[in-house]
Amino acid sequence: MTYGRVTPGERQTTRVGGDAAVLDDPVGQSLRGHHARLARRCGRAVGYLPDVATFSALSVGRGATGADTDATAWADLARLLGPGELADMFSSPATPPPGWKPVFEMEGRQMIRPGTGRFARAEAETGVVELGADDVPEMLGLVERTRPGPFWARTRELGTYLGIRHEGTLVAMAGERLRPPGWTEISAVCTAPEARGRGYAARLVGELAARITARGERPFLHVAEANTAAIALYEGLGFETRAEVVFRGFRVP
Ligand SMILES: CC(C)(COP(=O)(O)OP(=O)(O)OC[C@H]1O[C@@H](n2cnc3c(N)ncnc32)[C@H](O)[C@@H]1OP(=O)(O)O)[C@@H](O)C(=O)NCCC(=O)NCCS
Repeated sequence: MTYGRVTPGERQTTRVGGDAAVLDDPVGQSLRGHHARLARRCGRAVGYLPDVATFSALSVGRGATGADTDATAWADLARLLGPGELADMFSSPATPPPGWKPVFEMEGRQMIRPGTGRFARAEAETGVVELGADDVPEMLGLVERTRPGPFWARTRELGTYLGIRHEGTLVAMAGERLRPPGWTEISAVCTAPEARGRGYAARLVGELAARITARGERPFLHVAEANTAAIALYEGLGFETRAEVVFRGFRVP
């Protein structure tokens, strides 16, 4: 499968069927739809509640290029977030006006599982438990040790989070994050260092993917380009790269 690098002002993606177009704006598509209850808005800007996720999105209104530099949308975002705050634009290639200083830039890729087939559940569920509000301190502790990506006190509210315990201690987890129509992102995949290589992450991602496909949706995910272990994990489960992306954050002037 071929795929294209996404840079500000340019977007190329693999053709995998019309509905994959929503994956070009996964944050905005989630916040205006399935996650509207977890959104805050100002004009053409929308963002997650701060303790749920840091991601924001703009209504660019110029098709898939993301090349909109419309000052009003960015002014809306500045009002939404407040001066000096982080505007975490996730994978959006939209370029802010002068004065918005870059905070981070990280190359990554968006992966999907081709086709609409279901993941088998089989015995993959063994030892897998659903994580609830009471588990959040332990989830935050595991994230602190393994750094799978942003995860906050209320991130669990974005979807189902699953874990594996060893002698009562949470040693692996994975969960659902962005929800553009027809898709669910698998995120926060992590295994404690002492529990790696036992197939825990594969089991959790497989179980989430099985649940997602069972409700007629398709799984997707994002991974940092440098994370070769995670890319190998996802490729082993049949995920393929749909697009290369750049995660970017800016400081609100
Ligand atoms: C990536 C990570 C989740 C893997 O967890 P794990 O429970 O050890 O993974 P599994 O045992 O289920 O491995 C399944 C497959 O993934 C691949 N894999 C896992 N770790 C790997 C590594 N270090 N190098 C290469 N391939 C690796 C292998 O293909 C493996 O299958 P195999 O054991 O048959 O070879 C774990 O290393 C981790 O927590 N890393 C830090 C957090 C992180 O980066 N999360 C991903 C964010 S996108």
